[in-house]
Amino acid sequence: MAAPLKRKQDEFQAFYTNCNSITSYMIGLLQCDDNTSILEPCAGEGVFIDEILDRGLSPDIEAYELNDISVKKLQKKYKGISNVKIKKEDFLLLLPLFLKTFDRVIANPPYGAYQSPEKRKQLKKDFHNIYARETYGLFLARAMEMLNNLGRLVFIVPDTYLTLHMHEGLRKLIIASYKIESITLFPSGFFPDVNFGYAGLSIISIVNEAPIDNHRFPVYKGLKSPSDLPCLLTGKKKKYEVCRLSYRQIATNPSHAFYLPLKKWITSVIEANVPTVGDICSVLTGFYSGNDAKYLRRSSSVTRGKNKYALVNENEICRDDLSINPPIDGIDNHSCQVPIVKGGNRRFYKPSEWFMDWSETAVHDYRVTNKKKARFQNSRYYFQHGIAVPMVSSSSITASLMDGRLFDQSIVGIFPHHEYNYLEYYLLGFFNSKVCNEIIRTINASTNNSANYIKKIPLIIPGNDILLKVNDETNRLLAIAKNGNMIDDDLKKLNKYFDEIYNVNGA
Ligand SMILES: C[S@@+](CC[C@H](N)C(=O)[O-])C[C@H]1O[C@@H](n2cnc3c(N)ncnc32)[C@H](O)[C@@H]1O
Repeated sequence: MAAPLKRKQDEFQAFYTNCNSITSYMIGLLQCDDNTSILEPCAGEGVFIDEILDRGLSPDIEAYELNDISVKKLQKKYKGISNVKIKKEDFLLLLPLFLKTFDRVIANPPYGAYQSPEKRKQLKKDFHNIYARETYGLFLARAMEMLNNLGRLVFIVPDTYLTLHMHEGLRKLIIASYKIESITLFPSGFFPDVNFGYAGLSIISIVNEAPIDNHRFPVYKGLKSPSDLPCLLTGKKKKYEVCRLSYRQIATNPSHAFYLPLKKWITSVIEANVPTVGDICSVLTGFYSGNDAKYLRRSSSVTRGKNKYALVNENEICRDDLSINPPIDGIDNHSCQVPIVKGGNRRFYKPSEWFMDWSETAVHDYRVTNKKKARFQNSRYYFQHGIAVPMVSSSSITASLMDGRLFDQSIVGIFPHHEYNYLEYYLLGFFNSKVCNEIIRTINASTNNSANYIKKIPLIIPGNDILLKVNDETNRLLAIAKNGNMIDDDLKKLNKYFDEIYNVNGA
């Protein structure tokens, strides 16, 4: 996962909420008065506390902070203000049995702060089913526990909890016992000095109240600048309400994901219970040698990595059809450099430009000698026919033919089960279509196409007539790709077929 561009303190992840519109919106959502007790679990410089005090309120506030310098500043700033208590303590290590409870919690918790291996072990023990490497989820889970009945929390956190597989436990916890009041989504650029390459930001408001089965909550999106945020506290908020998510629907979504039903056809296809890619294909990641500088070779057409990777010796390239008798244990002759499909977004066909040493000695190294570093995984699928999708896409998902080659760990290999072999070209077309891109970006908003998300894509298999048309078109595009001069317009016809198959424009 990419890191924030300006990462100042890995240990504390101290990005302060120095944006008046954000703090003011969050305090507005919090709805506190002089009689509500408030917890700030990671106070930093105290921006939320300041906003509360600036409003002339004097509720009891308990603030935690771990960083010595920040603690000193907070103590100095709030000296003599008897209703504000500063505690220098690790909020995540508070003893679960002795937790105090509060009417309100407000926080901008650290995102992915470094945890020592010992601490991570402890956190895994204390927070069952919550992803321990991502600190914001832990802060959220603990803060929910510390809410009084009908108490409310307002957090600003990355939006990755909406759909990322590893946050399934957090999503389940929330919808089982708490009522989400609203989620507001906006670009991370709203946050001074922070810009996540991989995610947007969100402000989530949650109440400690058992949710009714069909609880629904609004999602606000489309704000142009932070100064638009406060209008979500007024009647103007309807303008930004993009959907209402229902708990009943979330409970039936794969891994309880919070899919935003921004497009009706996507909601319909997700709800329709059609088979998914994972039902029809094996979906898995590929090989890593453990030392590519030693084992990987490039053809002369590759200019990237010139210094790191040696040129392949043309005489050593294995030119057999390796899918007929896959050489899983290595090749015992001189022609033992096998083509490998690597990452990089190129549609339909990638020429063989990279080669892996597949001599028996090298394979023994991957499997035995260098077993710890190498990843000789899913080897049953090496040198088979299927589809290769790069794990990270640039603007949209792309796919190319595996074509009986090895594939590396930056590729998700999609291999139709035996009875679905006839779908190879259909799948190749599908994974290059706009429809597929829109579905996967709904399932997971980041540009990550890992196997877990690809498996969840609903795959509509049309009747024979349409299937043949898609296959013909895919074949045509494959030929263009092999000549190396494909342009976006070439995809128009293919996209039209998939628009029809997925009923994009409504019946
Ligand atoms: C993202 S900053 C936000 C600070 C402040 N709430 C704001 O919005 O400006 C997170 C703060 O949490 C503190 N912190 C990190 N881990 C902590 C922990 N385990 N317990 C308490 N505070 C922690 C950091 O030192 C940092 O000041």
